[in-house]
Amino acid sequence: MKIFLDTADTEEIRRAASAGLIDGITTNPSLLATAVANRSSTEVLLEICRTVDGPVSAEVVATDLDGMLTEGRRLAALHDNIVVKVPLTEDGLRACRTFRAEGIRVNVTLCFSAVQAALAAKAGATYISPFVGRLDDVGHDGMELVAEIREIYDIYGFDTEVLAASLRHPQHVLQAMLVGADCGTLPPKVLHQLLKHPLTDKGLDAFLADWKASGGEI
Ligand code: G3P
Repeated sequence: MKIFLDTADTEEIRRAASAGLIDGITTNPSLLATAVANRSSTEVLLEICRTVDGPVSAEVVATDLDGMLTEGRRLAALHDNIVVKVPLTEDGLRACRTFRAEGIRVNVTLCFSAVQAALAAKAGATYISPFVGRLDDVGHDGMELVAEIREIYDIYGFDTEVLAASLRHPQHVLQAMLVGADCGTLPPKVLHQLLKHPLTDKGLDAFLADWKASGGEI
């Protein structure tokens, strides 16, 4: 499963990219709003694209077709890594179809049902983003949605990639891998948690203590 970092925080992105841990970035208007500070969103997106050799999702904020097309084309023109993110609405799917005809990659976001995901695939989406954690928040099983989408895409041979989003903890990441998501996007905190295991730390401490006690050198 490809690992995307769900953030616009350029420090975190630099750290994860230089460690070779990530395959791409997803942003949304909320994440970009917290990262821009006194810079323009264009500047931030360009820095991200230069840091990461992979897809960088950037979302439109218009909700009508013409507005989405204008913003999406502007975003796509910024850098080859940009994937235009559109919401799963009727106009979002119209925009998706148009972008795909123009050779622009599209991430259809805010997906909360498998039939929505089927429509996005029919519109030619490059990625579909089911929001796992937000479904869990309202008492549903978010991962069940990812599994249903996987099954439908396999039955009908859709090549849209399943991008499990709103992953909140390492168990979500593991489950997304087990149900066959193509990609998972996670916040920096969850990426750090994936690396950690208390027995790794404990084992390393014991190895180092034994070595020190022996007085040996490498
Ligand atoms: O990729 C979508 C993601 O940003 C939503 O995550 O945790 O805000 O539901 P969350």
